[in-house]
Amino acid sequence: MSKKVLILPGDGIGPEISTEVDKVLALVNQQYSLGLELDHALVGGAAIDAAGSAFPEQTWQKCQSADAILLACVGGPKWDSLPPKERPEIGGLLQIRSRLELFGNLRPAILYPQLAAASSLKPELVSGLDILIVRELTGGIYFGQPRGIRVKEDGTREGYNTYVYDENEIRRIGKVAFETAMKRNKKLCSVDKANVLEVTMLWREIMDEMSSDYPEVELSHMYVDNAAMQLIRAPKQFDVIVTGNMFGDILSDAAAMLTGSIGMLPSASLDINGKGMYEPCHGSAPDIAGQGIANPLAMILSASMMLRHSLGMQDVADKIEQAVESVLDQGLRTADIYSEGTTKVSTSEMGDAVVAALQA
Ligand code: IPM
Ligand code: MG
Repeated sequence: MSKKVLILPGDGIGPEISTEVDKVLALVNQQYSLGLELDHALVGGAAIDAAGSAFPEQTWQKCQSADAILLACVGGPKWDSLPPKERPEIGGLLQIRSRLELFGNLRPAILYPQLAAASSLKPELVSGLDILIVRELTGGIYFGQPRGIRVKEDGTREGYNTYVYDENEIRRIGKVAFETAMKRNKKLCSVDKANVLEVTMLWREIMDEMSSDYPEVELSHMYVDNAAMQLIRAPKQFDVIVTGNMFGDILSDAAAMLTGSIGMLPSASLDINGKGMYEPCHGSAPDIAGQGIANPLAMILSASMMLRHSLGMQDVADKIEQAVESVLDQGLRTADIYSEGTTKVSTSEMGDAVVAALQA
């Protein structure tokens, strides 16, 4: 049976890295007769320019009928002056996540041994690093109402957002986190700010309640400020981290840097049935867009996560991951992961090298 994969190249470096993923997926599709139907659609700034909205109706239709979605990244200075709701991030990316109810965001931070020199920390602190951040993706302060910028009685403007989670939302992401921990080292750290924020006092209470259903999982709690410090001080103490939308956004960028570059990190955003959208953790990097120097590996690894989690093609996912390891073994590096003694390559050379490794 054929499977529909929708690719959303988006903005900035998105189209460049998507081209490399296209090459990789076209190859494995043919090599292993996967029967993937690859389709593309517009989202974000590119969609605003072409169709007048960051998330056009046609893209929404295609998202609904796809078996899995692969998104590069959205946003850029060109659209930053639009009203908040129309921007690529809020009107495009957050809309897709929310309308498809992709509440469970899995962000692995794994250090490839070949990249130890590219990490911002000493090799002994990061060697063997393998953390998974489970980030709640469709609630919290990103979506809470009311939100906006208003004018107060005295004429001064004030911006406001609402940080809110109900207990069902907390349980839903808690279940993903506990179940993920069960498949790993059974250590779960829930990150909150329960010394100050009521919403996370409830978060902590629910996580504690749930832990009796998972007696094998060792649950701990950490305030987000401490978690940020611990990630940089001794990151290997973590196995699975579960946290809300905004803290997860921030901590996953920090964790990314431990692995050498955010250009290496894939992610999966899943709904309750495991249907998913797969995205690199990085943004659209407008500063380097169009230069052919972006790292396509996070998106290529996102494609392999998609094959594994949503399409049941574990073997092919393994092959892609092995191909990525092999290009790293060959010493090929895009600028973000370059270190002395390795060979600097462009975006397309990196994609071609992965394709060549798959063919070898
Ligand atoms: C991410 C990104 C997005 C987020 C932006 C682009 C809206 O930073 O996926 O981490 O904040 O969720
Ligand atoms: Mg982010």
